[in-house]
Amino acid sequence: TGFVTYDPGFVNTAACTSAITYIDGDAGILRYRGYPIEQLAEKSSFIEVSYLLMYGELPTAAQLTEFSDRLRVHTLLHEDMRRFFEGFPRDAHPMSVLSASVSALGTFYQDSLDPFDHDQVEISTVRLLAKLPTIASYAYKKSIGQPLLYPDNSLGYVENYLRMTFGVPATAYEIDPVMAKALDLLLVLHADHEQNCSTSAVRLVGSAHASLFASVSSGVNALSGPLHGGANEAVLEMLEKIRLDGGDVAAFVRKVKAREDGIKLMGFGHRVYKNYDPRAAIVKGMAQEVLGRMAKPDPLLDIAMQLEEIALADDFFVSRKLYPNVDFYTGLIYKAMGFPPKMFTVLFALGRLPGWIAQWREMIGDSATKIGRPRQVYTGAPVRDFIPLDQR
Ligand code: CMC
Repeated sequence: TGFVTYDPGFVNTAACTSAITYIDGDAGILRYRGYPIEQLAEKSSFIEVSYLLMYGELPTAAQLTEFSDRLRVHTLLHEDMRRFFEGFPRDAHPMSVLSASVSALGTFYQDSLDPFDHDQVEISTVRLLAKLPTIASYAYKKSIGQPLLYPDNSLGYVENYLRMTFGVPATAYEIDPVMAKALDLLLVLHADHEQNCSTSAVRLVGSAHASLFASVSSGVNALSGPLHGGANEAVLEMLEKIRLDGGDVAAFVRKVKAREDGIKLMGFGHRVYKNYDPRAAIVKGMAQEVLGRMAKPDPLLDIAMQLEEIALADDFFVSRKLYPNVDFYTGLIYKAMGFPPKMFTVLFALGRLPGWIAQWREMIGDSATKIGRPRQVYTGAPVRDFIPLDQR
């Protein structure tokens, strides 16, 4: 019955109603639960923002303490799960390790997979948020051949993650507060972005009443793509390539415009922001600050700034409303913090996790939700008769 709308990429199709994140792409506005991203970036913290996204309101001091304490006691991985990391190949992409591990949480917590049991959803929410940093750091430690560190629950969320990532056993690890603050802020900026590709994947899988772990694992996989979260890694590869080719930024921009080898300016353009990406503005300021503290300046920052300047003055990019997005400068900051490019998208996933959970919970609690099941416009052969094998 009725007609089917053909809308590739769902550019004009709202698949749900949502009260979580508001974006005005033309005005460059982003708000979580009504709060402007600029205010949250300046005054809030990742745990507070996670609470806000998932429960709808900023926590009181008591609620924040209780929530942080709950997270703290769930940071350990099951010992059997810890051994998984011995089995992954050393050069595995950490995003694959991450999605496989999130999926595997469903095998350890079979008592909490029911999407309609409030207590089960609560404990899964806490377990996911508490354990993802542990999983992420183990994926990294595996790749460099260092021993895995148990979480130190006297530390804050980000501090604990940094220690598990960069610390080694029997050696004190000094947390750089500027680095911890910068990472916390980057997680805040990534925490939700309404119906982006990975969040839509989480909702779609969840709409079939798959568990929170199964749904979030799909989100991690979607995020790994270079057109989505994988862009931060791709930006750094692009900057490095420009540097190795002699640093001729204008020549690279000409190649992009000529669509040579189909190359795109990674970290540029956005489906929704057609004016500027408010997250990118905050990240750019931070890149200059964090990179400015380094003993040796990173030549890639200079290339990035030149690239931005040339592109923003070029009609090809201006007429297509292509501006730097959140991923353009984040990679440089992560690099300055000591993360290898392969870990950049994992950091995006750590940040996006509360958004995925909030959107999944909203979807499950929404009486209008139906199983996601798009239609198609069939373009194949008309009906025809089967031809036996010996006559083909
Ligand atoms: N470099 C060169 N040309 C571009 C770029 C780019 N980065 N992005 C879009 N275009 C061109 C595109 O070729 C098209 O040109 P024409 O009209 O002549 O065919 C026009 O601009 C419109 O682009 P579109 O592909 O229709 O836009 P979209 O909304 O489908 O894609 C996008 C959005 C983000 C996938 C795309 O801009 C892109 O591939 N950017 C590079 C990857 C990237 O940085 N992704 C991160 C996105 S932000 C964070 C996140 O979601 O993870």
